[in-house]
Amino acid sequence: MKAIVYTKYGPPDVLQLKEVEKPTPKDNEVLVKVHAASVNYSDWAFVRGEPFMVRLIGSGLLKPKNTILGADIAGRVEVVGRNAKQFQPGDEVYGDISGCGWGGFAEYVSVPENALALKPASMAFEEAAAVPEAAVVALQGLRDKGQIQPGQKVLIIGASGGNGTFAVQIAKSFGAEVTGVCSTRNLDMVRSIGADHVIDYTQEDFTQNEQCYDLILTTAGYRSIFDYKRALSPKGIYVSAGGSMAQTFQAMLLGPWISMTGSKKMGAMLARPNQKDLVFIKELLEAGKVVPVIDRRYTLSEVAEAIRYYGEGHARGKVVITVEHNSE
Ligand SMILES: NC(=O)c1ccc[n+]([C@@H]2O[C@H](COP(=O)([O-])OP(=O)(O)OC[C@H]3O[C@@H](n4cnc5c(N)ncnc54)[C@H](OP(=O)(O)O)[C@@H]3O)[C@@H](O)[C@H]2O)c1
Repeated sequence: MKAIVYTKYGPPDVLQLKEVEKPTPKDNEVLVKVHAASVNYSDWAFVRGEPFMVRLIGSGLLKPKNTILGADIAGRVEVVGRNAKQFQPGDEVYGDISGCGWGGFAEYVSVPENALALKPASMAFEEAAAVPEAAVVALQGLRDKGQIQPGQKVLIIGASGGNGTFAVQIAKSFGAEVTGVCSTRNLDMVRSIGADHVIDYTQEDFTQNEQCYDLILTTAGYRSIFDYKRALSPKGIYVSAGGSMAQTFQAMLLGPWISMTGSKKMGAMLARPNQKDLVFIKELLEAGKVVPVIDRRYTLSEVAEAIRYYGEGHARGKVVITVEHNSE
């Protein structure tokens, strides 16, 4: 089968289209014929081995441990392992396989069945592949860490990005009043996906406009934790889900101390991919409450270009990879 392989860290050019052996599913696994994948921050970080921390938390210290990247997939189950009971050959599935060895930038991948859920039947593979990681980050940030409630004022920073476009829509689905922070060119798009208010970060400083928020989620956070603290309502919660390393470390190190010494809660989150949340999100997709925003589409042979584009940091929604099969 064809796959995008890398054996050393570096710029996206180290990714090469190669012919490799088609995987065989273990007993608890299913073999998925991948029809689409999408690009996430982890692809951008793991290909370069930067920030260095990613080597310590799993990408491999000196060279890549998993030689095929790609966390988000959508495809069709082709073979079912002996003990895999949830899916049949032909089922259309989607999932985030970063917790079980990656490998989505390929024609086929073998994964434990628990990493997958049925994709919404009416959804194209490209749309479904845009969903798993970004939507789960948004869901767990808002619902689990952020304890979102109907009627709350929620501020999403980075509202136009992969995670942010899901966060705006998921926060709306929980009945929140949502403000999205983005740049001028994305204001209309962020409004169109449901934001009640938008703040153009190139024109306005959200910490200076006297507004307070019950929940702040950063997916592109570049400010000091004290700026976010100022913008929180007295019992507000701030969840750092993405942005600069400085912001993340402040949330990890100072967040617990601020939370213990006052009424505001502040901290960082680490999303955990799981089947239950994929099913939860499938229902939001089927109800039309969440619609993936796709910026660009690339083919499998163009994965390096797709990751390079993502790494520029200005994607509007998700960057998707279409995996074509010779026989189709
Ligand atoms: N916590 C977790 O478990 C977890 C899991 C996965 C990823 N992450 C984190 O998520 C982040 C990546 O998220 P993503 O894939 O959604 O990123 P992304 O798609 O690359 O985000 C790009 C968007 O961010 C916007 N942006 C850039 N600077 C901004 C600013 N100062 N204020 C508001 N918006 C700004 C850009 O808009 P413009 O073009 O207008 O600038 C663009 O639309 C990374 O930091 C990663 O570490 C966290």
